[in-house]
Amino acid sequence: MERKNVVVPETDLARQREFEEKIKEMFTAREAHPVACVDTFGCQQNVADGQKLMGMLVDCGFTLTDKPAEADLVILNTCAVREHAEDRVFGNLGALTHAKKENPEMVICLCGCMAQEPRVSERIKKSYPLVNLVFGPHALWKFPELLWRVYESRKRVFSVDDEHGTIAEGIPVVREKGVKAWVSIMYGCNNFCSYCIVPYVRGRERSRDPQCVIAEVRELVEAGYKDITLLGQNVNSYGNDLDIGYDFSDLLAEIDKIEGEYLIRFMSSHPKDATKKLFDTMAASRHVAHQLHLPFQSGNDRVLHEMNRRYTREQYLDLIRYAKSVMPDLVLTSDVIIGFPGETEEEAMDTVSLVEEVGFDALFTFIYSPRPGTKAAEMPDPADRKEKQKWFDKLLEVQNNMSAKLHAEYIGKTVRVLVDGESDDPDFPLASRTEGNRLVRLKGDKSLIGQFIDVKVTDSNTWALYGEPV
Ligand code: SAM
Ligand code: SF4
Ligand code: F3S
Repeated sequence: MERKNVVVPETDLARQREFEEKIKEMFTAREAHPVACVDTFGCQQNVADGQKLMGMLVDCGFTLTDKPAEADLVILNTCAVREHAEDRVFGNLGALTHAKKENPEMVICLCGCMAQEPRVSERIKKSYPLVNLVFGPHALWKFPELLWRVYESRKRVFSVDDEHGTIAEGIPVVREKGVKAWVSIMYGCNNFCSYCIVPYVRGRERSRDPQCVIAEVRELVEAGYKDITLLGQNVNSYGNDLDIGYDFSDLLAEIDKIEGEYLIRFMSSHPKDATKKLFDTMAASRHVAHQLHLPFQSGNDRVLHEMNRRYTREQYLDLIRYAKSVMPDLVLTSDVIIGFPGETEEEAMDTVSLVEEVGFDALFTFIYSPRPGTKAAEMPDPADRKEKQKWFDKLLEVQNNMSAKLHAEYIGKTVRVLVDGESDDPDFPLASRTEGNRLVRLKGDKSLIGQFIDVKVTDSNTWALYGEPV
């Protein structure tokens, strides 16, 4: 599909708004006050999709709840990235179908990345007859029409065709109240890392028009959001499909011109597409946080090659060295997979040594989970789970010591934070984030929520800093 066909025409989107009206009128005629629950699993991209679903539901006349048992309509917005994520969804589905026996009018929807897997949609079709609607990420923009078909026909509806993917602008959004907002700048992934299901369920890379992104960020800043994260599976390839000689650094530089007190973050970045220009742009900006989530996945070149990551350990380390040279205060995080098929203990320890060498502030660590349909799922995988767990525990021990050490270096320092909510610790009732996204639990009053303030760090542990306003 060519780029010119990627953007959903306005007339098609206007039709969806008509379906929303129809559903609303149907409820008004029945004098019903329907309640919906959107239960989201997975990454921020899915959270952003969940916010669009909530926006469309509100326009259909629903009020929202976070308690599935109280809802007339429940949406499970699912993730397929690891087996555990899928197991959780099937567990929830079991509980929901039980609740539906009590309340036969309840409508159950399953959407998100799992729904786009043929293996899953077939299983739902055969074994979960109480699920009314199944649709993948490609069909998200058509949700009002699909829901209307469920109410009108009382038949089960499946919309899970494999597609290149589209871009739909102007879908209503219900954002979290507070200071944080997510903005998808692109959809899909072209990288086909051999272990990963995402390119199969999210389609090809499609970049939103820069002016649409900039306008959305401007609106958010004007509405008082202060911590805005730009989302994509690989934001560093933003613009490649636009063919207008405009890249992610150009987008960041333009967003940075928007006046106001706010921070811009972004995720995720792929090292193969990270450029010096990006780091220079971050360093020169007023609003882009000096924070980088740059997943390296493995510290061993053979494993990186088998993963189809298309960079080497040394190239990754070069990038980090350059980024730190232009941003000495850079806060670095990463994703790692332990136990990729065929990985040996020595190779896993290369990953541990890279972690020691770089000194990440935090790490998201995963044990490899085979995803049917991916290349890695077909590879021989001789190491057993117990052995992989041993390597994983070693990695965690090294990282936890590193996080604790880096956090302890903050004690006695004054740092600027954004107070973003309440914390569950009665002695430190506020939660805040440094520019580098480190969690600081704070003493202080709720009236500080939403403000940038200076705090003195008084204590720390592996996961958080503790402090008080100065
Ligand atoms: N696009 C992002 C990237 O490339 O960094 C994020 C992809 S994924 C949503 C988040 C993380 O899940 C990946 O960085 C990887 O570490 C992990 N992951 C993906 N597939 C996995 C698998 N099959 N088993 C274990 N971890 C996996
Ligand atoms: Fe998955 Fe790789 Fe794409 Fe990230 S870049 S979503 S790990 S295929
Ligand atoms: Fe999961 Fe889909 Fe995100 S597989 S991690 S919800 S892109």
